[in-house]
Amino acid sequence: MTTIDLASAPDPLTVDLTDPGTFVRDDLHEMWARFRAERPVHRHPETPGRPPFWVVTRYADAMSVYKDNKNFTSERGNVLATLLAGGDSAAGKMLAVTDGARHRAIRNMMLKSFSPRALQHVVAGVRKRTSDLIGQVVAKDSFDYAREVAEHIPMGTICDLMAIPPQDRPQLLAWNKKTLSSEAENDSLDDQVMARNEILLYFSDLARHRRRNLGDDVLSTLVTAEIDGERLSEEEIIFNCYSLILGGDESSRVSSISTVLAFIQHPEQWRRFKAGEVSTNVATEEVLRWATPAMHFGRRALVDVEVGGERIAAGDIVTLWNTSANFDESVFPDPFTYDLARTPNKHLTFGYGPHFCLGAFLGREELKALLDELRENVATMELVGTPERIRSNFLYGYRNLPVSFGAA
Ligand code: HEM
Repeated sequence: MTTIDLASAPDPLTVDLTDPGTFVRDDLHEMWARFRAERPVHRHPETPGRPPFWVVTRYADAMSVYKDNKNFTSERGNVLATLLAGGDSAAGKMLAVTDGARHRAIRNMMLKSFSPRALQHVVAGVRKRTSDLIGQVVAKDSFDYAREVAEHIPMGTICDLMAIPPQDRPQLLAWNKKTLSSEAENDSLDDQVMARNEILLYFSDLARHRRRNLGDDVLSTLVTAEIDGERLSEEEIIFNCYSLILGGDESSRVSSISTVLAFIQHPEQWRRFKAGEVSTNVATEEVLRWATPAMHFGRRALVDVEVGGERIAAGDIVTLWNTSANFDESVFPDPFTYDLARTPNKHLTFGYGPHFCLGAFLGREELKALLDELRENVATMELVGTPERIRSNFLYGYRNLPVSFGAA
């Protein structure tokens, strides 16, 4: 049983959850445990130029809001950055920030491209890419796992799905890294906005080109699909491309990095996994719970509503902290122990309800491919430098991972 020390955790009343710096500290589990125990639904005070917001930290409360698209909306933003700025320019057009009938129609259309059947050949590509990359790095003395492995798999996969020309991929990756989850300390808000605009412009051009050169990729589906006899608008196409390239890359990339780091930090779990004591499917869920790359999502209340005994007023911002809910001691026994054999393991890493992650199947397949490849071809993993955390109030993980692998 792993216990944590609440006494040394920061007082929830003093924590600034808008500050990316808050999330590079090492006692986040203690911090969230104290929130859950003392202020499970906490009203975060306003910060300069930004309104107050609710912080939901227990599993059951977060689930209840995720499920409830009658009393809560995603159309005024679904992450702190946009919620606090007063809205998202993609509202009503991009899946994640669209509600109601339009959301269902676009989602059903896109789901066809993301079903296990439709993705069969893509999954084969993921396995091949993973195997090639791991094959290359085991031959090296040391390498940066983030740069040489993690950043090529999800990005390569989502680019394959959208048939993005190979020569454009490095630039897209560089823009992705500057958007939601500013990786470096010196990236400014302007850098983020500029990167987002570059991605939108890129897809505007690519969509125009694709209309004249249709294939069986997701972008071709977006430019030709009809809902109630009408094509999607230009903005709907471009914003959904943006969401796929970002959603498809970031969270999967950092979970891949977290997977390797967790094995290094928990050698007994690596031994169990390597010895075949835990199946890949079961292990994948604990890897996802432990990594929880998307720390929060959020909503606006449409009406006065109660959450966890607190009265939320219509118009209030409500943030749901997966990174806390996934370690809620009332749902996960011994939550601070990394236990690859944990079952059941109904984490909220992919959210829940109407906006449940569209790419969950793909995200899982990418991790399963990695786990199988590590088990098969790697004997030892060792840290040879200090990994640095991503500075973000949204994305949890590391931007580099200097390691050395020994071949099996
Ligand atoms: C939605 C997490 C991988 C595309 C979501 C949501 C979460 C999430 C928590 C819910 C957002 C909300 O409720 O507001 C993750 C994690 C991933 C991952 C942790 C990897 C480990 C992917 C991939 C893709 C993707 C690979 C695309 C290929 C999307 C899209 C939505 C979404 C389009 C919006 C769905 C909707 O609003 O109906 N994701 N995601 N995600 N994700 Fe993912």
